[in-house]
Amino acid sequence: MATKLSVNINKIATIRNSRGGNNPNVLQVAIDCQRFGAEGITVHPRPDERHIRYADVREIKSIITTEFNIEGNPMEDKFVDLVLEVKPHQVTLVPDYPTQLTSNHGWDTIVQAKYLQDIISVFKKDRIRVSLFVDPIEKMVSAAAATGTDRVELYTEDYARLFHQNKSMAIRNYLLAAQIAKEKNLGLNAGHDLDLNNLKFFANNIPSLLEVSIGHALISDALYFGLENTIQLYRRQLIAR
Ligand code: PXP
Repeated sequence: MATKLSVNINKIATIRNSRGGNNPNVLQVAIDCQRFGAEGITVHPRPDERHIRYADVREIKSIITTEFNIEGNPMEDKFVDLVLEVKPHQVTLVPDYPTQLTSNHGWDTIVQAKYLQDIISVFKKDRIRVSLFVDPIEKMVSAAAATGTDRVELYTEDYARLFHQNKSMAIRNYLLAAQIAKEKNLGLNAGHDLDLNNLKFFANNIPSLLEVSIGHALISDALYFGLENTIQLYRRQLIAR
């Protein structure tokens, strides 16, 4: 089965917010991404609402025809309340600090095991699929399984950074992490810094990959290729194996 492409539209909201009006229209972009072939929409609301706003998340839910994935830090009560209200298909839990530019590390699923178990059960009670953002470290993936999460999302920044120097070194830890996820019956997602250069190699080597969420590079590529073409180009990296 081909890996699903979920488009992270935070960057569209960043452009909109820079001028205070409604251009580009985030809701319309979400509709169009799906029309152009995206198999999911991802948003990552942060407490200061500097990109996607909480109101956007509520609105986007009403136009979702594919899969809705909301990412964020459950240590913010406001985030938990929003997810429980909107009930997306998936919530991806990320241990980012409010002032962080972007996510830059996964959960410590050993130290935070009890906290994660408790919060995951809150979402699961409402039948929301849960994914935990983790670094590609075998013991972190292994301990994630004990939290009750459905999936893990492997943080791919290291992969993307090393890719140009040495592809097989870059993917090494991810192969091991994917193997553990399989043994533990965890679904596998991936994201961060994936782009048109490095995506195919990742997907080809990790066939159990269920979903990637991609924002920065995809939206940047759309400046040159247009949104429809770009989404098709990314999907082709995932389909043609
Ligand atoms: N996954 C998570 C948990 C993220 O925080 C982000 C960035 O918001 C992404 C995936 C997508 O990363 P990128 O914008 O580099 O494609």
